[in-house]
Amino acid sequence: MDKPRVFIARYIPEEYLAQVRQACQVDLWPEDLPPPPDTLRQRVRGVDGILSLLTDKIDAAVMDAAGGNLKVISNCAVGFDNIDVSEATRRGIPVGNTPGVLTDTTADFAFALLMAAARRVVEAHNFTRAGRWETWGLTQLLGQDVAGATLGIIGFGRIGRAVARRALGFEMRILYYDPICEDDPYAAQIGAHCVDLDTILRHSDFLSLHVPLYKETYHLIGEAELAKMKPTAVLINTARGGVVDHEALYRALRDGVIAYAALDVTEPEPIPKHHPLLTLENIIIAPHIASASVRTRGRMIEIALANLLAGVRGEQLPHCVNPQVYMTDLE
Ligand code: NAP
Ligand code: GLV
Repeated sequence: MDKPRVFIARYIPEEYLAQVRQACQVDLWPEDLPPPPDTLRQRVRGVDGILSLLTDKIDAAVMDAAGGNLKVISNCAVGFDNIDVSEATRRGIPVGNTPGVLTDTTADFAFALLMAAARRVVEAHNFTRAGRWETWGLTQLLGQDVAGATLGIIGFGRIGRAVARRALGFEMRILYYDPICEDDPYAAQIGAHCVDLDTILRHSDFLSLHVPLYKETYHLIGEAELAKMKPTAVLINTARGGVVDHEALYRALRDGVIAYAALDVTEPEPIPKHHPLLTLENIIIAPHIASASVRTRGRMIEIALANLLAGVRGEQLPHCVNPQVYMTDLE
């Protein structure tokens, strides 16, 4: 019997691929840049499984191109907003993701951005490299204190909670906003308070975003929300670019509505080279690297491959975002 066919949409080091090569015919996209949409549709024709990255849009057209053999879409990321999950569910195709293994690494980076923005680390570095350091100045490059400040966390899931744990070490007051608020023993244990959106916006010195990108969270932070924030506030986004309205953010940073922003994610990605946000001093923008540690990326690849293999074998995915696909037998 022919081995199942899989398309892996990005270069993965060979050391990870032994098991999947043994079980499947592997078509591995060899480049660092994603396959263009037309090429993606061509390469997936007739495959049993697709391993995608968050840069690959997997919509109905890609599923149509793959055809009736498609048994699994395995995303090498915890976020899955690049995949039309309801369409996959309608077709009975399980979608996999990589939760948990990147929680601490991503939270570390969110906190690194928070600290760097608070104390203007990137500006200070650029200042020194530009030869502008002439003396110790009493009012030079002043920032915000982190210790004792109020941290607002929007989306109190795995990563939001891990950020809260880091904030405890800085004796921060922690507020959070999440659909499920009541009777959260973890929040009670660490002394975090659930509040409404208005309160978190008005009271946070640092506001860190950790919600998935859904229709409901698209532009969750726009002009009206920024206007409620403190003029000294710092906004940190390691969730998805679409959660923040970038035009409103540009005006808010330019006009002093808020003090600073630190983004790991933008809309679109990469951010266009002439985007107005890149003209501002009071922003840090990283190229979507919050989960980018050697160990974590290795673990993400392993989980994505395990999901892919389980899917082509007709087994339940170890990490499935649409487990409803397995419930049809019960109906
Ligand atoms: P998670 O455990 O599912 O946490 C998300 C939290 O947000 C959940 O508590 C969820 O509540 C809550 N939420 C959903 N809709 C909300 C809304 N409208 N308002 C407030 N809270 C809302 O996911 P995670 O593992 O922490 O990851 C979160 C996101 O981070 C991912 O989806 C991904 O987009 C992003 N991420 C980015 C990077 C990076 O490299 N920058 C790395 C990893 C993850 P319910 O559970 O009740 O829905
Ligand atoms: C990265 O952004 C992820 O969702 O894993």
